[in-house]
Amino acid sequence: MGFRIYLSPPYLCGKEREYVNQAIDSNWVAPYGPALGAFEKEMARYVHIESALAVSSGTAGIHLALRWLGVEAGDYVFCQDLTFIGSLGGVMYEKAVPVFIDSEPGSWNMSPAALERALKWAKAQGKLPKAVIIVDLYGESADWDRLLPICRKYGVPVVEDAAEAVGTCYKGKKCGTFGDIGIFSFNGNKIITTSGGGMVLANNQLTIEKMRFWATQAREPEVWYEHKEYGYNYRMSNICAAIGLGQLEILPEKLRLRKQIHQRYKELLSGLPVRIKGVAEKGSSNYWLNLLILDTDAVTPLDVVTKLQNAEIESRPTWKPMHMQPLFEKAVYVTDENVYENGCLTAPDSVSEAIFARTLCLPSGEALTEEQLQIIANEIIACFE
Ligand SMILES: Cc1ncc(COP(=O)(O)O)c(C=O)c1O
Repeated sequence: MGFRIYLSPPYLCGKEREYVNQAIDSNWVAPYGPALGAFEKEMARYVHIESALAVSSGTAGIHLALRWLGVEAGDYVFCQDLTFIGSLGGVMYEKAVPVFIDSEPGSWNMSPAALERALKWAKAQGKLPKAVIIVDLYGESADWDRLLPICRKYGVPVVEDAAEAVGTCYKGKKCGTFGDIGIFSFNGNKIITTSGGGMVLANNQLTIEKMRFWATQAREPEVWYEHKEYGYNYRMSNICAAIGLGQLEILPEKLRLRKQIHQRYKELLSGLPVRIKGVAEKGSSNYWLNLLILDTDAVTPLDVVTKLQNAEIESRPTWKPMHMQPLFEKAVYVTDENVYENGCLTAPDSVSEAIFARTLCLPSGEALTEEQLQIIANEIIACFE
C-alpha cells in the first residue's frame, strides 16, 4: 500500500493466512464451509449472544434486520442523523421513509431528547416507526440506558448499528447486543476486517435462521429451486470468514493498540486549541478512529485535511449529517427542540451540524509507528503556525 498513511487500513498479524490456506486446501472456496460456521459461532460467543449470521456487508445486515421487523414502503424508520449512509441503505431499498434524529454532544450518538420528541410527533400522527436504527458511532457506545427505555415505552424495536463498534462494551455488555437485532461491519477500514463483510446478531435462533434463509436467495428446502418469497445473495464467503476468524483472535491486541494510539494523539497535540475526542461519561469506545475537535474558527477541518493530504496522510471530515445531504433535503429532521417536518439543509440548533463543522478523523490503524504519529502531529501543529 505504498508510503501513504491511511485512515484505518487492514491489520493482519494473526492466523488469517493459515486459515485462508486451510479453506483453499480443503476447496471450501464457497459461501459455505467450516470457517463460516466457526466465525459465526466464535463471534456469538465473544459478544455473548445466542446466534449470529455472517453476511456480505453491514449494510446487508441492516437490510435483513429491517425485513425481519416488517419494514415496508412508506413506513417510518428513525435513523441517526450523524452516521454513514450504509446505516440506512435498507431503509431506502424498502422504500421506507427515514426520519433523522439529532445527536447528543457527549457520545455524538442519538439524542434521547430528540428521539422522544420524534416519537411523540410520530404518535400524534398515528404512525410510529417500524424501527429505530441507533449507531455506536466511531466505536463509541450510544447511551443505551437512556435510549432503550424510550423505545420500549413506545413499543418500537431497535436495530443496533454497531458497524464501527466491534469490541466496545457499555457497562460490561458488548455493543451489538443492545438492540433487538445488532449488526457489525467488517469492511476493509473496520477494526476487524474480512475485506468486506458483516454480521447480524440476535438473541433468537429463529430470527437468525429466517435471515439466513433470505440471505441465501430464499430457497425453499426442496431438491429443485423453489421460491415462495424473494431473497438476496447476502452470504459471506468461507474465505472471508477465514480471515475474520484470524482477526477475531487478535481483537484484544487490536483494541490495546488503538487505545495506545489514542493516548499518543492526546499527548502529541496538547497545547493546541484542539482536543482528541474522549469518551462520554458512562460510555466506552474501541477507539476505532481518533476524532480531532478544533476549538477555534481560525482553522477548519478542510484546512487540516488538505495539509495532511499534501503530506500523503489520509484524514476525513467526520460523517456529513444526513439532514444536510441533498438526497434527504425534504426528509424530516428532529432535534432536541424542533421537528423540521419539511427538511432543512441547515438548522440553527443542530448538534450534528456543529460536530461536522469542527471535527475530522485522524489515521488510527494499529500499525502506526511512533515516527508516523509524530509526522502526523507535526503537520497538524503546522496548521496553527
Ligand atoms: C455506521 C455504519 N453503518 C453501516 C455501515 C455499513 O457497513 P458496510 O460497509 O459493511 O456495508 C458502516 C460502514 O461501512 C458504518 O460505518
